[in-house]
Amino acid sequence: MSVLVLLLVSTAAHGLSDEEYSRFPRLFHLDDYDTCLSQPGGLYCVGSFHITPVTPEHPTYELMKEYSEHPSNFNRTVLYRGYCVSSRCGTASETNTSLRFEQCANRWGEKYAFRLSLQKLQYCRSFAQEFARKNTQEPMDEPQKIFLSVVCALLFFNFIGTAYDLLLGDERKKSKHLVSWSLRSNWNRLIATYEDGDPRLSALNPVQGVRVFLMSLTILTHSGVIRGSFYVFNPRFIEEIVKSPLLMLFFNGTTLIQFFLVMSNFLLAYNLLLASKTHELKFKHLPLCILKRIARITPVYLLVVGYSATWWPYARSGPLWPTLVEAESAICRKKFWFQAFFINNLVQAEEHCLVQTWFLAVDMQLYILGSALTLYLASRRDIALKVLGALFVSSLLLNAGLSYAFDWQALVYFATPENIRNMYLNVPSFSRLYTSPWGSLPACFIGLFLAHVHFELQEKGLKKRDISFVVNILYQLAPLVLVFWVLSGTWLREFSTRGFVAFYVALERMVFSCFCALILFGMFNGGSNMLKEFSAWRGWHAMGRMSLSVLMLHWCVNTIIAHSRLQPSTTTVLDVFADFAATGFYTYLLAIPLTLLVEMPIQRFISGLIL
Ligand SMILES: *[C@@H]1O[C@H](CO)[C@@H](O)[C@H](O)[C@H]1NC(C)=O
Ligand SMILES: *[C@@H]1O[C@H](CO)[C@@H](O)[C@H](O)[C@H]1NC(C)=O
Repeated sequence: MSVLVLLLVSTAAHGLSDEEYSRFPRLFHLDDYDTCLSQPGGLYCVGSFHITPVTPEHPTYELMKEYSEHPSNFNRTVLYRGYCVSSRCGTASETNTSLRFEQCANRWGEKYAFRLSLQKLQYCRSFAQEFARKNTQEPMDEPQKIFLSVVCALLFFNFIGTAYDLLLGDERKKSKHLVSWSLRSNWNRLIATYEDGDPRLSALNPVQGVRVFLMSLTILTHSGVIRGSFYVFNPRFIEEIVKSPLLMLFFNGTTLIQFFLVMSNFLLAYNLLLASKTHELKFKHLPLCILKRIARITPVYLLVVGYSATWWPYARSGPLWPTLVEAESAICRKKFWFQAFFINNLVQAEEHCLVQTWFLAVDMQLYILGSALTLYLASRRDIALKVLGALFVSSLLLNAGLSYAFDWQALVYFATPENIRNMYLNVPSFSRLYTSPWGSLPACFIGLFLAHVHFELQEKGLKKRDISFVVNILYQLAPLVLVFWVLSGTWLREFSTRGFVAFYVALERMVFSCFCALILFGMFNGGSNMLKEFSAWRGWHAMGRMSLSVLMLHWCVNTIIAHSRLQPSTTTVLDVFADFAATGFYTYLLAIPLTLLVEMPIQRFISGLIL
């Protein structure tokens, strides 16, 4: 693995010798945080500085400026510092802390003939503040109390439900509402498999494996992003690896999230179509559909957002903890109601509270559209495929048009180290296209289309292995094609005219969603192959059912591991995998209680009430 990486990296190396590079000042630096704030009079500041040369002729500075021009390099004329101002520069007469920080940094800069001016002060913390923080019990504020009360209430209901279920034994008839809160009953549901059940449902078994696979990719990519937003000890490694095709698998691979949307819209329409065989579906069932979805998603979702807005900052500490975790927690608090109504990707979209929640917002928005459309088309099945096909093509054109009009780009064009460091802050392509509902419309329509095709074929009594030879070949090749398509981003991003970029936005969505649909179609209808066997393995079932909890939790778990580091972190491929492994392990462990005590009981309880 590392040999491969070295090969890839060395081919992409920048034309700068190691000797020249070593003259650049260190990009990120952190002094010892705890020691600093343990001493009376201690002052610790974190911020970024813009540097300029003191002398007119400054060869190193010229080199740094030239190096920074390349978008895949960090901007080396900005330095990031966490200084223990008190021990570095002594106690000064200056009382303005930000001026003191700047003067202190300039004392370092004099050695290299650089002038440093404070670009952004993140925070300054003094011994007295830290002492007060550690030694006084701050009273809890309202949101924190509410969060704790909710947790206690949930535990209480679970206790009652479980006790009721266990005490009554298996013989007697039990209240369905109370049993939905029983831990035993929910556990059995979590580990159940449908292998001997309804063949229509067991045909969908591979879905769980696909979910686990996609969730792992998501966690892995986010481990990289989270490391990239921290101070990095070896920025050159990142600068070089972003140019290599290996990383393209991650950047461009994030588009694989569309797979989830194809799948979720497929399941939505397919389940509705199955229901239409026994009940007559009417438009007035729409609120019921939406309510059921909300009952499934909202409890876990809001509980984790609520945690992030209240107790997350207290989990750990460190020099960058305030700028990364405490700042994000403040956004969660500010945007809580936008999150609750699933419009967080439309309102104040540049500010992220748990970045993955954009997906749940898009999913909910498209769910409403998808269920309305399916209910409408349920009685007009003869035209359904034509309507959905036309909508799919229009959504592609819409995205191409919007991209052209507003100069929005696909992720490959703007996944630079600087942008990742800032979590794509102020990148309209991210907040207005990547995380927007219109950006995912094609995936939604193709999912609905696939559900109709699959359903019609089953109605006509299609036997497995009846699917055409060509479709089967394409299906077998699809994963390979997807990998090549993702890799081709390395080459395609060289073409950056506005017209091509807009075309690529549409093309990317089309290729991804069509191949995702093809893979699903093949898994449900085709003969078995390794991919299908693997995805349908029963071991994935329980893990697949925990996907929502995992999606919500992994960001908090990963930041708690990574953002409390006391020094800039060494970042290599292996380190990212280590963070991924730790995050994945703890996340799935925590997802078990979250799924059993929150998601399943509330969903069952509400379904029981409305049916
Ligand atoms: C680097 O940062 C400085 C200061 O913010 C800015 O003036 C300059 O334009 C940036 N360079 C590049 C290439 O973005
Ligand atoms: C400290 O100095 C900076 C720069 O002169 C100024 O913008 C800031 O308001 C001052 N802060 C305080 C607390 O006086």
